[in-house]
Amino acid sequence: VKGNYRHFMQKEIHEQVRSLTETMAGRIDFQHNSILIPTLNIDEVDFDQLKGIKIVACGTAWHAGQVGKYLIEEIAKIPVEVDIASEFRYRDPLVDKNHIILAISQSGETADTLAAMEEGRKKGARVWSIVNAIGSQAMRLTDGYISMQAGPEIGVASTKAFTAPLVDLYLLAVMMADKKGLLSAQERSQYIAEISKVPDLVGTCLDRENQVREIAAKYKDTEHMLYLGRGINMPIAYEGALKLKEISYIHAEAYPAGEMKHGPIALIDEDMPVMAILPHDQWYEKMISQVEQAKARGGKVIVVATDGDTLASSLADDVLWIPEAFWMVNPVVAVLPLQILAYHIAAMRGLDVDQPRNLAKSVTVE
Ligand code: M6R
Repeated sequence: VKGNYRHFMQKEIHEQVRSLTETMAGRIDFQHNSILIPTLNIDEVDFDQLKGIKIVACGTAWHAGQVGKYLIEEIAKIPVEVDIASEFRYRDPLVDKNHIILAISQSGETADTLAAMEEGRKKGARVWSIVNAIGSQAMRLTDGYISMQAGPEIGVASTKAFTAPLVDLYLLAVMMADKKGLLSAQERSQYIAEISKVPDLVGTCLDRENQVREIAAKYKDTEHMLYLGRGINMPIAYEGALKLKEISYIHAEAYPAGEMKHGPIALIDEDMPVMAILPHDQWYEKMISQVEQAKARGGKVIVVATDGDTLASSLADDVLWIPEAFWMVNPVVAVLPLQILAYHIAAMRGLDVDQPRNLAKSVTVE
């Protein structure tokens, strides 16, 4: 049932305050300031021997994995590689018993992801998953799993099953750092305090839906859109572009912003709007200079910017405002206006938002 919403996708976007609360519920022990995920069987891992984690996933889940690499390497200091499952499974990857394969999957039935898990298992690796569908293969065929607790996702375009694993990956990173003895009690409670703010921050973004809809009306007839991001928000550029292309059929590409001068900047003219993910973080200055370069070439620029950023609003044609957040949490917040924008553009174009052409919710064949 869609309730008061026109489409499941819109409903699922709005469910994210609840789904993100749920994915943390029962895992954060506020009394002892610790994180507990018993289904992961983390105590079986010998962190002294662990060589690295290989994240395998497809599509939106792969984007979540790319954010996870940042979080795990930054917080837990464990090397992470992120692979597209369909590539990993045929590459004879260098994996052994001292690696963890971490699969991310909403459905838990994606053929390539399951095959990548199997490949890892054959080579002796520990296999973990972050999965939404309860009882799915990717939940059952593991040494440990994290349940996203996002609830069923009907819309083909993933929304709440993107943000839930971002929170799970953050919790996992903190938990592993703690097991390795890297965190003081104060650092641990700081990490926990920051992630606990996420549902409210997401709620603030949802309250701004009407502002995003007005911007959607301005860009609904564009034929192209270029998304740029850097650092931990680079995968958010990829995810924003995927959302737009899969439901609105607008050609959207994403690039790490530093790559612009190596080719894609040639595309920029007045018919190529640029979406820059520009929260307050350590990549901010670099992103500002990309925005200036796009403007200098006649491009229209939309930015995802932090409340109060007058420099961003003076440079950009349009701003998708997000509330201030800890930089490691920014991806969860910054993706919200991009989901809402893609949704409204597709709805305004009169398209079948929940069931886009040529796509299936669960890709059970390769
Ligand atoms: O069920 P999975 O998370 O394994 O699905 C992987 C992709 O097919 C999926 O994330 C897809 O890219 C999204 N539905 C796109 O919005």
